[in-house]
Amino acid sequence: MHDIHLFTTAEASGDLLAAIRRLLGDAYGGDFSEEDWEHTIGGWHVVVADGGATLSHAAVVPRVLEVADRPLNVGYVEGVGTAPVRQGAGLGSVAMAKISEVIRSEYEMGALSTGRHDFYERLGWERWRGPTFVRSGSQAVRTEEEDYGVMVLRFGPSKDVDLTAPLTCETRRGDDW
Ligand SMILES: CC(C)(COP(=O)(O)OP(=O)(O)OC[C@H]1O[C@@H](n2cnc3c(N)ncnc32)[C@H](O)[C@@H]1OP(=O)(O)O)[C@@H](O)C(=O)NCCC(=O)NCCS
Repeated sequence: MHDIHLFTTAEASGDLLAAIRRLLGDAYGGDFSEEDWEHTIGGWHVVVADGGATLSHAAVVPRVLEVADRPLNVGYVEGVGTAPVRQGAGLGSVAMAKISEVIRSEYEMGALSTGRHDFYERLGWERWRGPTFVRSGSQAVRTEEEDYGVMVLRFGPSKDVDLTAPLTCETRRGDDW
């Protein structure tokens, strides 16, 4: 049995945020940076827990992405991880299904960057096929090495978005995508 908790960063206690950060450190084998954590906070979190144990987590934060020249309010998924001993039991899918519900109700499109395309494709996410860019001020720079990782969740206002169009994010500390 497990419980699903949905809350904003502002609503979370310091202890809960520390538990999430520890979980992500474990899930990523210690390769979860200060910048990765910065990207994970400031929006919504889903935690799948068993008793007091935090087993799986996913977050979504607001970003504006431009599809060609059209700015979209996007829910950008960050900090997806399941405790190593509990992986492969469906908990990550539960967390992502709930985060996708939040994206559909709060944003115009979902986006994320991953190497685990199959995991997200099963949940209705699609690979971006166009060129990606990062914008700093008025300058947009091509991020060719990121093209393969970017995926989107289209629905309602984004259901007709062209997956082969240019896609641009704003720069940020750490990984742009
Ligand atoms: C990616 C990650 C979050 C998935 O979490 P998870 O809890 O293992 O996810 P699930 O169990 O729902 O799904 C994982 C696999 O188990 C399979 N699975 C799900 N439920 C299952 C079940 N009851 N029995 C057997 N297999 C099952 C799924 O088919 C899935 O396979 P797929 O990834 O090839 O599609 C987890 O592996 C992780 O933390 N990885 C390290 C960090 C990372 O890479 N994060 C994502 C980067 S964007």
